[in-house]
Amino acid sequence: MSTKTEPVELINPSEAVTNAAVIKNYEEVYQRSIEDREGFWAEEAKKLQWFKPWTKVLDDSKKPFYQWFTGGKFNIVSNAVDRHTKTWRRNKLALIWEGENGTTRTYSYHALNREVCKFATILKSMGVKKGEIVTIYMPLIPELPIAMLACAKIGATHSVVFGGFSIDALSSRVNDAASRVVITADGGYRRGKVIDLKTIVNSALQDSPTVEVCITVKHAGNAVTMEADRDFWFHDLMSLPIVSMNCETEVMDAEDPLFILYTSGTTGKPKGLVHTHAGYAVYSATTLQYVFDLKDEDRFWCTADPGWITGHSYLVYGPLICGATVVMYEGAPNHPYPNRWWQIIEKYGVTILYTSPTAIRALMRYGEQWPKRHNLSDLRLLGSVGEPINPEAWRWYHRVIGGGKCPIMDTWWQTETGGFVITPLPITPLKPGSATKPFFGHEVGIVDDQGNDIPAGAEGNLVLKAPWPGMARTIHGDPDRYKSTYWGQYEKQGWYKAGDSARKDSDGYYWIIGRTDDVIKVSGHRLGTAEIESALITHSDVAESAVIGVPHEVKGQAIYCFVMLKPKLTGSHELETALKEHVAKQMGSLARPEKIQFVDKLPKTRSGKIMRRVLKAQAMGQEVGDISTLED
Ligand code: WTA
Repeated sequence: MSTKTEPVELINPSEAVTNAAVIKNYEEVYQRSIEDREGFWAEEAKKLQWFKPWTKVLDDSKKPFYQWFTGGKFNIVSNAVDRHTKTWRRNKLALIWEGENGTTRTYSYHALNREVCKFATILKSMGVKKGEIVTIYMPLIPELPIAMLACAKIGATHSVVFGGFSIDALSSRVNDAASRVVITADGGYRRGKVIDLKTIVNSALQDSPTVEVCITVKHAGNAVTMEADRDFWFHDLMSLPIVSMNCETEVMDAEDPLFILYTSGTTGKPKGLVHTHAGYAVYSATTLQYVFDLKDEDRFWCTADPGWITGHSYLVYGPLICGATVVMYEGAPNHPYPNRWWQIIEKYGVTILYTSPTAIRALMRYGEQWPKRHNLSDLRLLGSVGEPINPEAWRWYHRVIGGGKCPIMDTWWQTETGGFVITPLPITPLKPGSATKPFFGHEVGIVDDQGNDIPAGAEGNLVLKAPWPGMARTIHGDPDRYKSTYWGQYEKQGWYKAGDSARKDSDGYYWIIGRTDDVIKVSGHRLGTAEIESALITHSDVAESAVIGVPHEVKGQAIYCFVMLKPKLTGSHELETALKEHVAKQMGSLARPEKIQFVDKLPKTRSGKIMRRVLKAQAMGQEVGDISTLED
C-alpha cells in the first residue's frame, strides 16, 4: 500500500467564474444532499417534465436492485426534445455538427424534433416495439443521436456499439441483445480515410441470425453491398409518404430501460449495463448543469463518441435535457493539421470543452504554436474524463487552452454510474490531477478489502456508500453478475465497489489511481484484458496468452501481450505483426497491441492463476518481488 503527500498547490477559480456559478456553497448543499438524499433528488426531478409524478423517490426493497421515482410516468425524449419545441428554444441550435471533410450541418430544436419524429415513425413501421433492443453502429454523425432519440421516443431500448469495434465485437453484442433491427452508415471518416462500416456490419450479421432489418445512412459514399429484404437506405425511408412529424412520445414507466451499453469487465464477455428513462435523465442533467454550469449562451463541446457512456450522458442526453447547444465533430483531432480542434473552438465559439487526457497529451506534443494561432477566448470551462490526468497535461490544458482562466472539471465516473460522481464544481479550488470531491448525494469511501477505512493519504478501494438515480440497474440478462460484481464484496455494508483504487488526502480531495481489476484504459477506452486474450487465442499459432496494461506516455495505458505459441513454433517479427493485426481485426483497431512478447511459459500460481504482477514487473523492467506462490 502506498502513501504519498500531495502537492499543496491550490488553483482558485477566477471571480468571473465564481460569480457566474449557480452553486456558490458546495459544503452546505452537499451536507443537505447527504442528510436528505431523497429530498435532494426529488427536488431535481421536479425540474423535469413528467406525464405523472412518482409515488416513491427511492425503493430499496429489492436492493441492490434499487429503483428510483417508482410510480412515475416519464420519457427522456419529452425532456430532451419535446419540451424545448414549445418554448423560445425551438429556434435555438441543438446540434452543430462538423464532418472531418469540412461539411457542416446544424439542427435547431425544432429541426431535431422533426428528424426524431420522422425516424421514429419509420422504426414503428418496421414493427419496432416498446422494450425491444435496437443496435446502433454508426460514425459520429447527427443521425446517431437522432437514432438514439427516435428509439427512446417510441420506447425501444437502444444499444450503441462504438463504430471503432470490429466484426466479432459487434455480432456478439447484437446477439446478446437479440436485436431485430440494426442502424448503421455506409462509412465514416477517420484521418482522411473511410472506415467501411457497412461491410463490417454485413460480416457481423452473418453470425447474428436475429437481425431482420438493417437501416443504412449514406454518409461517406463508399460502395456497399445491400441485401434485398433486409437492407434499407435511411434517406429512402425518410422520404416515404408514410413518414410524418406526428409521432407521440411513448409514456414510459420511470424504471423502463432507456438503453443498454456494453462495457468491459474481468471476463471475456462484455456486460450490457442497463440504464433507465427517469433516474438517468435526472442524474445526467443535474450533474451536467451544476458541474459545467450550463447557460443558454454556452456552446458545449464534448469530444466523446456516443459509443461510450460519456457520449450518451454528456454529448446527447444531459446537454439536450438542459436545452444546450451541442457541438459534435466527426473526425480525428489532428486532421488535416494538429490545429483542427482549436480551429473548431474558434469557429463555433465553443465555451466549454470536455475531453480526455489522452487527447490533451497527444495535442500537447505538437506544441503550443498550434493552439496559439487561434482565438480560444470564448472558452470558460474545461473538462477531463476517462483516465487520470497527469499534472503536466493538466497544467498545459489550463494554461495554453484555457488561458489560465478556465477551471478544469476532472470528472471521475463510470459506465455504471451514468454520470459524474467525484468532480469539482466551477467554484472548487483545484489541485492538478485530483478529481476533488464527491458530487451531491454521494458518500465515497476509501477502504480495505474488509471495508475498514483507509487513513488519509493511503491507497484503497473506492466504494460508493449510497444509491443514486443514475446508477445502472442491472446487467442485461445477467442480474447475478451485476449483484456479485458490484455489490458482492461489501454486501454486508451495502456498498458499491467501483473497481478503482484511490487515495483521499488530508483536505478531503480524492486522487484516482486506476483499476484494481483486469480492465485497462487505452486512450480512455475501456477494454478487458480477457477480451484481448480471447481474440489472441483464436489465432491458429497461439496456445495461451496473458495481456496486461503498461503505462504509456500518451495513451495512459498500452496493451502488452505475453504469448505462448503452440509446440514447435517460434516467434518472429512477422508473427508479432500478424498477431497485432489479428487482434485489431477481431476487436477493432483501438485494441491493437503495443507489444507482443513471445514466452515459453506463463508465470502461474500452483492453483493455475496467471500472476499478472510478475508479468507487469517484467514488462516494465522492474523487480519481480515475492514469487513464493509461483508454481515453477
Ligand atoms: C476511469 C468513463 C481517473 C476509472 C466515464 C473508471 C477515471 C473507468 C476518470 C470507467 C477520471 C474515468 N480520473 N480515472 N476523471 N474518469 N476514469 O466506464 O478507472 O469507460 O473506473 O467510463 O475510467 O470507464 P468507463
